[in-house]
Amino acid sequence: MKILGIETSCDETACAVVEDGHRILSNCIASQIEEHKLYGGVVPEIASRRHSENITGVCEEALEQSGCRLDDIDAIAVTYAPGLIGALLVGLNFAKGLALAADKPLIPVHHIKAHAAANYLIYPEEMHGIQVGGSLTPPYLCLAVSGGHSQIMEVKSYTDFSVIGRTVDDAAGEAFDKVARALGFPYPGGMYIDKAAKSRNASSDTVQYKLPYPKTAGNFDFSFSGLKTAVINIIHNIEQRGEKLDKNALAASFQYTVCDILCTKALNALKLTGHKTIALTGGVAANSGLREMLKERGAETGADVFIPPLSLCGDNGAMVAGQGYYEFLAGNTADSSLNAYASLDI
Ligand code: KG4
Ligand code: ZN
Repeated sequence: MKILGIETSCDETACAVVEDGHRILSNCIASQIEEHKLYGGVVPEIASRRHSENITGVCEEALEQSGCRLDDIDAIAVTYAPGLIGALLVGLNFAKGLALAADKPLIPVHHIKAHAAANYLIYPEEMHGIQVGGSLTPPYLCLAVSGGHSQIMEVKSYTDFSVIGRTVDDAAGEAFDKVARALGFPYPGGMYIDKAAKSRNASSDTVQYKLPYPKTAGNFDFSFSGLKTAVINIIHNIEQRGEKLDKNALAASFQYTVCDILCTKALNALKLTGHKTIALTGGVAANSGLREMLKERGAETGADVFIPPLSLCGDNGAMVAGQGYYEFLAGNTADSSLNAYASLDI
């Protein structure tokens, strides 16, 4: 079954064709990052406009690269929540129009569920991702870390998720981006922190700047806002004393602390729930420190760890088409009254 996946929840206009939930026939993305960089973050109005301009071309490109005509597509999957509402509406209305015109089923996909499906796309070809222990099938635990979300979820089936931990303030990616901005790196700053941190190799014994480990009421909840403020205070104090800031060391300390918090909580959740498998996903899953730490600590506890390749960590259409396949099998289709939602529980 061939599914066209459409993703416009933030600043990537993305379309892909995926067969049977895992075989990627095409995966095309028009990124707007260079434009939003000028403003230090995503400008929702600009994002919507660019999606409107790009969506037809990206969709045509995805069909062409897959070797399919619209007739060959069996269903159209689209991200309908959560995300920037104006941006979501562009993809959703485009998908609705296409589904109506071509008489194809329309499949609504939750963005975070789509991120989880990124891992199914590389099954079973181990060389495409870092896999320890074979194929990924539910049930398992998923750590989803992106610019808008940080969640620990029990993936009970391909379509049934239960959130057992979430951020009470900033998402991990948001914290990376805000700290990067304070350190003078461009938007989105996660990858610049990653690069800067690489020169330092921070570990619990060597972190040069000791940062707070925020407490949360829920055992598996996260809080990154205080951590971000602590970094900003360190920068200000150093500047006020007229000292030179070691940017790379502070980036390494921040990255180590975030990764330590994420991995510790996720692996504690794994122990408590009795799952044996953990999957990482979302834009922050591209972080080299996080990938290494989860792989290492997961292996120490005997867990199977699944991490998507870098190309499937950030927003893309293939993950939407991948999740769309399982939603379709579960009978989750929609008619043209489907709406978009800026926030929606999983
Ligand atoms: O999943 P995503 O593409 O979009 C959302 O759904 O939010 O995630 C984007 C986030 C941004 O905050 C970006 O800075 C972060 O992922 N990110 C990284 C890295 N690459 C992207 N964060 C840390 N290290 C990276 N290498
Ligand atoms: Zn995302």
